[in-house]
Amino acid sequence: MSTILVTGGAGYIGSHAVFALKNAGYEVIVLDNLSNGHREIVEEVLQVKLIVGDMSYRSLLDNIFATNNIAAIMHFAAYIAVGESVTDPAKYYRNNVVGTLTLLEAMLAASINKFIFSSSCALYGVPQFIPLTEDHPQNPISPYATSKWMVEKILTDFDAAYHLKSVSFRYFNAAGADPNGLLGEDHIPETHLIPLVLQAALGKSESIFIFGIDYPTPDGTCIRDYIHVNDLAQAHILGLQYLLNGGKSEVFNLGNGSGFSVREVIETAKQVTGKDIKIIERDRRPGDPPILVGSSDKARTQLTWQPQYPNLPEIITHAWQWHQKRHIVEAKK
Ligand SMILES: NC(=O)c1ccc[n+]([C@@H]2O[C@H](COP(=O)([O-])OP(=O)(O)OC[C@H]3O[C@@H](n4cnc5c(N)ncnc54)[C@H](O)[C@@H]3O)[C@@H](O)[C@H]2O)c1
Repeated sequence: MSTILVTGGAGYIGSHAVFALKNAGYEVIVLDNLSNGHREIVEEVLQVKLIVGDMSYRSLLDNIFATNNIAAIMHFAAYIAVGESVTDPAKYYRNNVVGTLTLLEAMLAASINKFIFSSSCALYGVPQFIPLTEDHPQNPISPYATSKWMVEKILTDFDAAYHLKSVSFRYFNAAGADPNGLLGEDHIPETHLIPLVLQAALGKSESIFIFGIDYPTPDGTCIRDYIHVNDLAQAHILGLQYLLNGGKSEVFNLGNGSGFSVREVIETAKQVTGKDIKIIERDRRPGDPPILVGSSDKARTQLTWQPQYPNLPEIITHAWQWHQKRHIVEAKK
């Protein structure tokens, strides 16, 4: 079976993709600098080879490609905090764009030409219509989003010039955790709604902020499209098979197709956890569109992708299992 290099495989989505790759019978090598990843998840839970290193180190990449027969790369490694990208754009362009460029040059030098890229719905900017389709105009409004937009442009140019074949997946909000409770979301600092709500439910924080209660939505709070991380991982397997079978470069949205408001997420989390969660209402944050919901019809049709966990209580239940388990492990340390 083919060997797949997974950059960022010690992180949240990457670790779930590694698990799916293993289950599908692929050999996996993870490259992660552990800036935000978790060594024990790769070595102890997933039990695959971990190379601790940075994708910007060309000699390290050359060595990996010279000593392993890599069929394709799944590229999750990036910095992901939108707010930080505004205050420190250089950090984001250097890692997410320059680092990715180094990776692409190294793989092409090693005659590897299949690449799966973690892009983001953030590159659409403020929606002009809902649901967002892949042909919606792109107008990124943060350096993070621009970094994803730039890499997609590089991939288009590299296909034209060097025949690099890529699948870019524009994720909506990744959420949930593997139902086995062994993998999940653990970002430091955490900026995503569901883990923040669950941390409040565990008593790790006192309350949860709602930014904006006067949006033109039914309950006044922002609506987002939450997609289960295992469904994302499964799409990566389908995208990989598509490329290995000679598919041309493509871009696909990956979302649930239905949106949930911030209040709905918090209410559902209260029901799932049985805990009361204190809410503090704040002003809107700049750059937060009222509604972000995507159409994933293209992935459903062309990749025959079928999300298995579209309902919010199930997504939150899986995340809750992971957070409770993580909390117990941390308490024992
Ligand atoms: N989480 C979401 O909702 C979401 C939405 C859209 C897109 N994405 C994209 O999906 C990908 C994965 O996101 P995530 O939530 O799993 O993030 P994460 O921070 O959990 O994982 C990223 C991993 O990349 C590693 N990494 C970062 N820079 C590296 C480098 N230079 N060399 C080697 N390793 C490096 C980190 O240590 C980490 O393990 C990212 O590219 C992100 O932009 C995520």
